[in-house]
Amino acid sequence: MSERRYEIFTIAPNFYQLGTPSYPAYLSMGDSGMIIEGGTGATFPIIVDQVKEMGIEPERIKYLALTHTHPDHIGAVPHLKKLWPHLKVVASGVAVKQLQKEEVIQEFIKMDRTITEILLIKGDIDWWSVELENPVFEVDMVVKEGDKIDLGAGVAWTVYETPGHSPCHLSFHNERDGILVIGDATGIYEPGKEVFWPNYFQSLEEYCNSIRKLAALPAKIGARSHGGIVEGEPRDYLQRVMKATELYHREMLERLAKGESPEEIALDKAKWVYTFTNLQPFKLIHFMTGLTLRHSQAVADKEDLFHIP
Ligand SMILES: [Fe+2]
Repeated sequence: MSERRYEIFTIAPNFYQLGTPSYPAYLSMGDSGMIIEGGTGATFPIIVDQVKEMGIEPERIKYLALTHTHPDHIGAVPHLKKLWPHLKVVASGVAVKQLQKEEVIQEFIKMDRTITEILLIKGDIDWWSVELENPVFEVDMVVKEGDKIDLGAGVAWTVYETPGHSPCHLSFHNERDGILVIGDATGIYEPGKEVFWPNYFQSLEEYCNSIRKLAALPAKIGARSHGGIVEGEPRDYLQRVMKATELYHREMLERLAKGESPEEIALDKAKWVYTFTNLQPFKLIHFMTGLTLRHSQAVADKEDLFHIP
């Protein structure tokens, strides 16, 4: 890789944003440390350099916690495990099952290459990431709702199951410091433009339940898996996300009711998404807008999905 330096953001004492702004990973340090987010093949060497630059002994980093197993969130895992075999990979039980599927791994390899290409085009990196021959994705510690990951020195993270974006999705909350790692539970947000793309790729109802669950947690800092730290209070952000999700859902249903075809709507939505994010190839975005459309249709009769108490 190049000699280029990637900025390390100190978000709070002992909580740092690593990686790149579009593909961040977070590092929490107590007596021991935890990286939250599995990165990509291309961000792996960046994360390693950043840890070195911080002067942290890699042996102190005990855990690598996965928010979910989408290909753009696990790419650094086999690399980091190979380099730092002491790392314990933490994920949900559903994630374990996902990672045992051969097709998921094959899809991952293709997608990780595409992410490298996207990062090259965006100018975020200027090297081609090394590919491992047999990437290994083994989970060492399965966690569920309410479990605590104690890093010592008063730093502890509570696990929250936040499905809807993906069935395996987890968020992490550090109550003492008011930090909420949201992951992809709120979809893609373009900060400068206040544009949200709701990412309910598994279920709209569960997606809304997860946003509601996160909005009930006391937090001053919200950390996303794309786009970094939330501006302002996480609860305000989550309310805006919920509103945007409702508008997106209702717009699609109204267009269907007026007789537009699902294909037309999904394509149109994909074009709109592509105007503000190119983190994924257009084909994939189009597939995903189709998914959200179907999930909206599945709960078209439900009224009270979007309420935050
Ligand atoms: Fe995702």
